[in-house]
Amino acid sequence: MDDLKAKYLEQVAHAADEGALEAIRVAAVGKKGEVALKMRELGKMTPEERQVAGPALNALKNEINSALAAKKVALADAALDERLKTEWLDVTLPGRARRIGSIHPISQVTEEVTAIFADMGFAVAEGPQIETDWYNFDALNIPGHHPARAEMDTFYTHRAEGDNRPPHVLRTHTSPVQIRSMEKTGAPIRIICPGRVYRADYDQTHTPMFHQIEGLAIDKDISMANLKWVLEEFFSAFFGTHVETRFRASHFPFTEPSAEVDIQCSWEGGTVKVGEGDDWLEVLGSGMVHPKVLEAGGIDPNEYQGFAFGIGIDRLAMLKYGIPDLRAFFDSDLRWLRHYGFASLDQPTLHGGLSR
Ligand code: DAH
Repeated sequence: MDDLKAKYLEQVAHAADEGALEAIRVAAVGKKGEVALKMRELGKMTPEERQVAGPALNALKNEINSALAAKKVALADAALDERLKTEWLDVTLPGRARRIGSIHPISQVTEEVTAIFADMGFAVAEGPQIETDWYNFDALNIPGHHPARAEMDTFYTHRAEGDNRPPHVLRTHTSPVQIRSMEKTGAPIRIICPGRVYRADYDQTHTPMFHQIEGLAIDKDISMANLKWVLEEFFSAFFGTHVETRFRASHFPFTEPSAEVDIQCSWEGGTVKVGEGDDWLEVLGSGMVHPKVLEAGGIDPNEYQGFAFGIGIDRLAMLKYGIPDLRAFFDSDLRWLRHYGFASLDQPTLHGGLSR
């Protein structure tokens, strides 16, 4: 028994891993191991011999089992130590800073305008940037021969050879959303439609893609006076100061009567300031929706009438935030974006302030 004990304790001490330990366990104290075989011999012994040999064998079995268990723990500890030597992390290192982006002035101004009109009960509607010429022109009372079609420098999509359907256009204004919204919800209606529009034009104040907001209010007793009040409210809220407006008679195919709206400004020192001085700056087109346009949208012009207006978001952003060149808006220059951008967590609201 002393030989057995010495042999197995020695083996356990030198076992290299858990697999080796298991093999030793099976050979020593497993069902058919050496200790079990010795226990079977107890039956052939005299009772006196058995009284000595039995407990001694049990003790041997326990001793080997404890040695196995202890070695198992020691092996696991060693393995962990080994891993910790290779896999370590310096938690005292400073973190990697992530650059915070900024909100583009176009997005900022769109949110500001939306907040102001939402307060006056206008919902936001959107339409596709690729339009049929029905929505972009005909439904808005701009027939095929009308000079406005040519004036707008329209981008047309390409049709396959032999496909004689009229081409789609990149919408030249947000006015087609008027028609789509009338069709969708019918009257009464009170919406603004912000979005991208396209015209083949490029200089300091024109880019081939720019942004407009269309406004539309239709009900049974809407007048030009409502239009005037809404726009005056809007400009004063947007520029944060009382802004005088001037309505000039004009002409648009989709409104009758039509008015162009100027806002009060000064030009001192070569920079424009809105809401002071006695110069005027043209900023939008508007009018009472033409009966033919109501009809095209499926609304009865004998029962309903309303006003509409269209304003350039880019122009508003340049005016409010003193940005001189429109082309830089779309250059994706990070220095420009950091300079003119807005904090991403400052949501424009009327109560919290439109911008900081
Ligand atoms: N659609 C016109 C443009 O792009 C702007 C406009 C003028 C919209 C008068 C209107 C309006 O709704 O009534 O130049």
